[in-house]
Amino acid sequence: MQFNSFNPPIRTLMGPGPSDVHPRILEALSRPTIGHLDPEFINLMDEVKELLQYTFQTRNAMTMPVSAPGSAGMETCFANLVEPGDKVIVCRNGVFGGRMVENVERCGGSAVIVDDEWGSAIDPAKLQEALATNPDACIVAMVHAETSTGAQSDVATLVELAHQHDCLTIVDAVTSLGGTPVKVDEWNIDAIYSGTQKCLSCTPGIAPVSFSDKALDKVRNRKTKVQSWFMDLNLVMGYWGEGAKRAYHHTAPINALYALHEALIMLKNEGLENAWERHRTNHLALRAGLEAMGLEFVVNQNDRLPQLNAVTIPAGVDDADVRNRLLNEYNLEIGAGLGALAGKVWRIGLMGHSSRRENILLCVGALESILGDMGANINTGLALAATQKMF
Ligand SMILES: Cc1ncc(COP(=O)(O)O)c(C=O)c1O
Repeated sequence: MQFNSFNPPIRTLMGPGPSDVHPRILEALSRPTIGHLDPEFINLMDEVKELLQYTFQTRNAMTMPVSAPGSAGMETCFANLVEPGDKVIVCRNGVFGGRMVENVERCGGSAVIVDDEWGSAIDPAKLQEALATNPDACIVAMVHAETSTGAQSDVATLVELAHQHDCLTIVDAVTSLGGTPVKVDEWNIDAIYSGTQKCLSCTPGIAPVSFSDKALDKVRNRKTKVQSWFMDLNLVMGYWGEGAKRAYHHTAPINALYALHEALIMLKNEGLENAWERHRTNHLALRAGLEAMGLEFVVNQNDRLPQLNAVTIPAGVDDADVRNRLLNEYNLEIGAGLGALAGKVWRIGLMGHSSRRENILLCVGALESILGDMGANINTGLALAATQKMF
């Protein structure tokens, strides 16, 4: 069999991630590889840490990229902070809260689950009640931006409640970082993780994390070894730690870190506040078009994430048929529903470099055209005008 180089089609990525990657970032990725202990690379590592501190809005010294995707950022937080026997309250309002429960159990902890409806934000009153009835809990975990539904929770309030009961906090910011405010120091978050492929608009495969000194105290004073050698921060700190004489821990994904460095520079140049505002206004334009068609949002307006728009699929319309036609006829990817929402919703992402006017117009026009062609029960002829009006 003859194998040929892989040349991917040029797609517009408007799903739940990965998002479109700017050519500047792709170009950075292709620069010559150097050694992971080369002094020039060490300088780049220091800059990546500083840029991540800006992005997370923190002075935490332990702010670094884990060499693996968002799920590894999640595991790094749980594996280091949860000791066997620890009781952890997990707020679950979608797929990723469910994965946190798995992580707690695999680390030997016991999970107290605080469930909320899929599509709703986490209810602080329910967390308050769980904290009161579980005074022996020592950690509270929550997803800031639930990618499976498009709901955003009030992390500042939830973290404050956890601290009133002497619990550390773990926050998932995979979909929120760079797209909506994430303020690690102001909100007093103890451990947080994200991913590169969403609103940072970088290539997938790296997980920025940040740990407060209080969280690191727990990691340093564990009674048992962290069960994952690769993720044990006590060891990783020898390579990424503050002022450390850098020593080999693993071979860093050199080129992927060039790309992350470039993505973070672009975000810093735009300014975090401007990026948040761009995501917000583009969401309003997309919303205007989708609602003019008659599509309904899963999440109520107050709890809605601007970068992840979950809308209900009109009755009688086949989910996969529409997504396949978008891909084949328009080179446009949107996301399917996950878990309990599979087959019932589409998830339209406006993350990072994907959050652009031309993408929104393409998406609204293509959806209207395909749904109209299929005879779906939607309003036709209004959506593009409604979108344009918002611009
Ligand atoms: C909220 C959330 N957490 C965790 C993850 C896992 O990230 P990754 O797919 O990069 O491992 C995702 C990915 O979509 C996510 O949306």
